[in-house]
Amino acid sequence: MPVSFRKEIKDLVAYKPGKPIEDVKREYGLSDVIKLASNENPLGASPKVKEAMLKVMEEFSLYPDGNCTELKEAISKKYNVKPSEVLPSAGSDEMVDMIAKTFINHGDEIIMADITFPRYMDTARIMGGTPVLVPLKNWTYDLEGMLAKITDKTKIIWLCNPNNPTGTMFSEKALLDFLKQVPENILVIYDEAYNEFVTRDDYPKDSVQLLKDYPNVLILKTFSKMYGLASLRVGYTIASEEIISNINKVRCPFDVNRFAQAAAIAALEDQDFVKKCYDLNKRGKEYLYSEFEKLGYEYIPSETNHIMANVEKNSGEVFLELQKRGVIIRPMMSTWIRVSIGTMPQNETFIEKLKEVLAPLGGCENK
Ligand SMILES: Cc1ncc(COP(=O)(O)O)c(C=O)c1O
Repeated sequence: MPVSFRKEIKDLVAYKPGKPIEDVKREYGLSDVIKLASNENPLGASPKVKEAMLKVMEEFSLYPDGNCTELKEAISKKYNVKPSEVLPSAGSDEMVDMIAKTFINHGDEIIMADITFPRYMDTARIMGGTPVLVPLKNWTYDLEGMLAKITDKTKIIWLCNPNNPTGTMFSEKALLDFLKQVPENILVIYDEAYNEFVTRDDYPKDSVQLLKDYPNVLILKTFSKMYGLASLRVGYTIASEEIISNINKVRCPFDVNRFAQAAAIAALEDQDFVKKCYDLNKRGKEYLYSEFEKLGYEYIPSETNHIMANVEKNSGEVFLELQKRGVIIRPMMSTWIRVSIGTMPQNETFIEKLKEVLAPLGGCENK
């Protein structure tokens, strides 16, 4: 008899990352390749991060602090919460997984937007939960629609604000109106992976305050985007002590490595770097908007470090043609692409290559 697999994973598809830059260079004989596909920080990370990592370099043979004591302290100080209300993880990806393991029983309903971050759905399915999808309205979360889907079986509601991949957000008022109507036995996950990029004033500025009135809320954050630590894999959650201590039971020992812990503490301290990245992202966003407008292409105004645009040609084909020219973006559904905002020269190269690609495909020349 061959080995058998859990039926819950039968129809799952493994995550397929884009090609690494080195592979694209080799395959197409290119010396310069820019990757605007994974919403990484084009400025890298604060120089203080490297210094902090070098300081702990000699200790790589020792296991890291499995409790992330200093990192928890740094986070708790920043948000004025107790260290016991903070749980670092190996990227927020690991936390999405741990949340599913901690909360989801077979048959539980998990409400999420369609479209949003795909791991919410995969992890629900792995645990035998039933994803309940609520289509976006005008590319934005339909919070009323989500409330309408609540049943006795609802266990979790996933909110991503601002949303990946659309870049859209909902306001503080909308969030508070929503939370008031969610029964307290339903866990609301508030994923703020991109909150540092938001420019609108009506965004919920201090989400951690929500925990006082809503102990069923869990706030999920990452160092991968604004702080530029994507390859170190470090994120964190802030929630009630009860939620944190239960998730901690399913956590792998030593999940956040020594370099990630040191880097995250240093990154949090350098808010000047955050400001620099915020300004660059805002400039890049405005530049890309104006170029899409000149080309006559629809785009979704974004509060993140990525923009979705409708290039009116098959997005898979556009992706491949751009890749051949050394620019990696993310093809989305039908004719939509998602591009991460880069440095200004990277944004300009992307637009130049996009024009080059779309002209022979019958796009953009007369628009
Ligand atoms: C909305 C959202 N949540 C979570 C993640 C996971 O990020 P990480 O595991 O790098 O912290 C991502 C990554 O793209 C994301 O877009």
